[in-house]
Amino acid sequence: MIESLTIQRRELVQGLVQTPARISPKYFYDAKGSALFEAITGLQAYYPTRTEQSILAANAPEIARAVGVNRTVIELGAGNCQKAKVLCESIHPACFLAVDISEEFLHEAVATMRLSFPNMEIQAIAADLTADIVLPVNLPTGRRLVFYPGSSIGNFDPPHALALLSRMRDLLQDDGALLIGVDLVKGEAVLNAAYDDDEGVTAAFNLNVLDHVNRLIESDFDIRQWQHRAFFNAEQSRVEMHLEATADLLVRWHGGSRAFSQGERIHTENSYKYRLEDFVELLGRAGLTHTQVWTDEQAWFAVVLARP
Ligand code: AVJ
Repeated sequence: MIESLTIQRRELVQGLVQTPARISPKYFYDAKGSALFEAITGLQAYYPTRTEQSILAANAPEIARAVGVNRTVIELGAGNCQKAKVLCESIHPACFLAVDISEEFLHEAVATMRLSFPNMEIQAIAADLTADIVLPVNLPTGRRLVFYPGSSIGNFDPPHALALLSRMRDLLQDDGALLIGVDLVKGEAVLNAAYDDDEGVTAAFNLNVLDHVNRLIESDFDIRQWQHRAFFNAEQSRVEMHLEATADLLVRWHGGSRAFSQGERIHTENSYKYRLEDFVELLGRAGLTHTQVWTDEQAWFAVVLARP
């Protein structure tokens, strides 16, 4: 279930009054934000999506053998289901369950999946992965494959990533597996370009969060007064995204306000980049000790199949 509006509003206001102010990256994904993210995945500078897709395509037969047929595939953060489509073509699941925070976007994507796989059982639920994921009661009992592509795990700091992986381990039961994509540490220039593209699509994606927040808490953010900032923080091994005030501003919302001075930032996202051995160790700590890894030639991205 999506958290109630009251909880979302409380969380947003709490983040906005902090110093530095923060907005959780889960608020990027309103309908427009989900569409902008889809546009990002097609950018030349944004290497993760295409690199992961090429890993999945190049190793499809081997991955399919390792995963097995007739699985119940649970995709977390399904988005447009494009990756699931490719996966389902090679592993032939009995059932596919799409889980995503963006309800509107999800239903469209699932409708497209139904056209491609008329014989597969398809279900969808809108859920926030940072809360408990409640599976549909009528989900088939077959062995589960949890699919968590795109390095979405990178949005969580390591302790929260560990907590989420542990919950996935529970979700997949003793005989299931997790197929997860993770972005790896690489040259800073490549990382910076991926999160600050010349076309300004990532900037639009970052700024759009303010319009979404405006609707949620009735605030008066004006995106023209904010600037996109993105850079790799080597010490923390993460790309950070921020929104920077271009002037002294007062932002009001229903029941409160916050002054920002020129240059002050709202932290909107962390995207952690792992060393492969550190990520495998993290999986192990979540109880997923048996791993198989596929990567690209440059070792920019990894796809890991992990089992208890
Ligand atoms: C969806 C979290 C994997 O961190 O690369 C893309 C989101 N942010 N460009 C990422 C994102 C800016 C993306 N994840």
